[in-house]
Amino acid sequence: MINENWESEFKTRLLEHYDEMKWLYTELYNDPHAFDYFCEMLHQYYTERSDLLKEWDEARIAVPNWYQGNEMLGMLMYVKQFAGTLKGVKEHLDYVQECGVNYLHLMPLLESPAGRSDGGYAVSNFRKVQPELGTMEDLSDLATECHKKGMSVCLDFVMNHTSEDHEWAKRARAGEKEYQDRYFFFDNWNIPNEFEKTVPQVFPTTAPGNFSWCEEAHKVVMTTFYPYQWDLNYNNPTVFNDMTANMLNLCNHGVDIVRLDAVPYIWKKLGTSCRNLPEVHTLVRLMRMAAEVVCPGTLLLGEVVMEPSKVVPYFGSIEKPECHMLYNVTTMASTWHTVATRDVRLLKHQLGTVFALPKQYTFLNYLRCHDDIGWGLDYDFLGQFGINEVLHKKFLNDYFTGKLWESNGRGELYNDDPTLGDARLCGTTASLCGVEAAVYEKNDWKLNMSLELDEMLHAFLFTQSGIPVLYSGDEIGQLNDYSYHDDPLKWDDSRYLHRGDLNWDHVAMRNDMNTRQGRLFHALRKLEKIRASHPVFESDADAWVVETYNDHVLGIGRYFDNEKLIALFNFSEDEQVAWINEEEDYIDLMTGLQRDAKGVNLAGHSFAWLLHSYREKEYNNEAPTPVEKKTKPVDKSDAEAKPAEKKAELKAEAKPAEKKAEVKAEAKPAEKKAEVKAEAKPAEKKAEVKVEAKPAAKKTQSAKKTTRKPAAKKTRKTTKKASTKKVTTK
Ligand code: GLC
Repeated sequence: MINENWESEFKTRLLEHYDEMKWLYTELYNDPHAFDYFCEMLHQYYTERSDLLKEWDEARIAVPNWYQGNEMLGMLMYVKQFAGTLKGVKEHLDYVQECGVNYLHLMPLLESPAGRSDGGYAVSNFRKVQPELGTMEDLSDLATECHKKGMSVCLDFVMNHTSEDHEWAKRARAGEKEYQDRYFFFDNWNIPNEFEKTVPQVFPTTAPGNFSWCEEAHKVVMTTFYPYQWDLNYNNPTVFNDMTANMLNLCNHGVDIVRLDAVPYIWKKLGTSCRNLPEVHTLVRLMRMAAEVVCPGTLLLGEVVMEPSKVVPYFGSIEKPECHMLYNVTTMASTWHTVATRDVRLLKHQLGTVFALPKQYTFLNYLRCHDDIGWGLDYDFLGQFGINEVLHKKFLNDYFTGKLWESNGRGELYNDDPTLGDARLCGTTASLCGVEAAVYEKNDWKLNMSLELDEMLHAFLFTQSGIPVLYSGDEIGQLNDYSYHDDPLKWDDSRYLHRGDLNWDHVAMRNDMNTRQGRLFHALRKLEKIRASHPVFESDADAWVVETYNDHVLGIGRYFDNEKLIALFNFSEDEQVAWINEEEDYIDLMTGLQRDAKGVNLAGHSFAWLLHSYREKEYNNEAPTPVEKKTKPVDKSDAEAKPAEKKAELKAEAKPAEKKAEVKAEAKPAEKKAEVKAEAKPAEKKAEVKVEAKPAAKKTQSAKKTTRKPAAKKTRKTTKKASTKKVTTK
């Protein structure tokens, strides 16, 4: 039901989606009252949204692809590990900016019981920040400050479950039926046992099984993850309504990107795997529409750690989109496989699949995150080379835990279940690359090789289309943190190995090029700046696999806006030749020197970014040479250069609406607003911007130009029933 008195902006947006929303909602719930409540709730969050955030929404609607540019760079961090508190993060934003970051992902920070938190993924109050980190106001303040600096803020929305300490769980435990109906409660083990026949396990060693016994309620409760994480029952419209409200509340505190945690798991049905069921897509689509109505500047990032065929459907369709962004998880895992095997054939195959997808699909690319690395590789493809899944996983794990004589990786296993041979891997990027072993052995040759590998992997990361995201600390090559072994609240979860505190003494060494911190920091900065300066790194670029006729060398081609890039990556520690034969003249972007793209020699673990500009003739008429012209922004840029400014330099002429967004980012939005008001009535201003250029049309035009768990945790209140089911690829 649409209320005539609602603001016209809200009504217009709601009307745009109303029919589809009602249809999908009715299919799931067939409850008109619940749907009316849902619409009222959307209106409430629309009215509560601040004018400042509404301005951001407007700027972003004007440039819907604002997050797909080549200047985007993300960083992932735990507030506590980075700077202690939210206020601390705010104080250290200059450093984040110095890293070139304009997308800040803060790991879960809402209230979560100590010792039963799963790294913050067991939320006991969606409206309250963990007291030791700060308050909801601190979160809003930090978001405002980030926005002023042109940064977006991403936050997890842990929607599959609540902590057993959440108010709903407490009331369910006390026997209130209404609250038990928000979870999956069973009087005995009969139905849970039926579920167990088809549902894989997420934590087979630390939290086996998918159900736990709740002594207080004297019932069995569904707990896919840890026993203290109770699965929410989205069959119940109240759960969906209230959880969507929780999400919108975070958006109204300035969160720009909502990471839908464990989203494939949110719908359960007996006799299925309880993963990726069709209803999940309906729910995500509804959430997407809810966000588009209330806070249209918001993006949804789906955490779908599954094989590619399961991941891609979460983008939805062009007409009915679901998530804006998804993790490029298979490429990440295939990259580490390639490090261990020095054989690029799987990665070539994987990239071929990704490159064939529509360019509107935005991937979040990463080398590692806060979770383990699961070996979800394409074993059908590997099978043709005689590779066996179980044996290969063992090889990879042995390799990265340094068990093989030639391996320098220093990782640890996660959820090692010897019966299934399906352990996953933990470790920081630097430690997995061999930096830790080299430092320990005081072996300079090894240190050099492992840093080369680390740099090369980042260069590969930056060559992919989408948003590259660094884990805080990786920019200075932070090593594993073994202190979790001594912490009884963490010792049984090896993911804490790579979630250590940022070492600020090491950060302070970032400008000393004689240190490994300095070397890596500046190498990454250089790559980021080059990436941000060349349109060929735009997500809209054509990308293809280049045949190098050498299984140690990966070749990637990119083309956009008259620029062609040939990127080569040598995954072996020996010198290799990329047997390519590209006709044009190329410049090596790392040196600024001319370099032929024919039979390219690559030192061990090195890479090359070779650029040809088809604008050469144009440039030759005007000095300077294309090389100088193209590399100029890179050479002159200093460590403080803001990526947003860079974007302004490059795109100011092309996309006036982006300029508008940027201006807002640089000046205090409130002041800016006043300024705009003084100059012209906002409506006029808006009209003016629209007349100057339609960003979407602009985009199409340029595209056309291309012609082409604790082992029985003592403190836990519910106990899980062990089972020996198949494990997921997570
Ligand atoms: C996601 C998180 C992971 C967590 C799980 C359960 O996969 O990335 O850290 O354990 O969800 O919430």
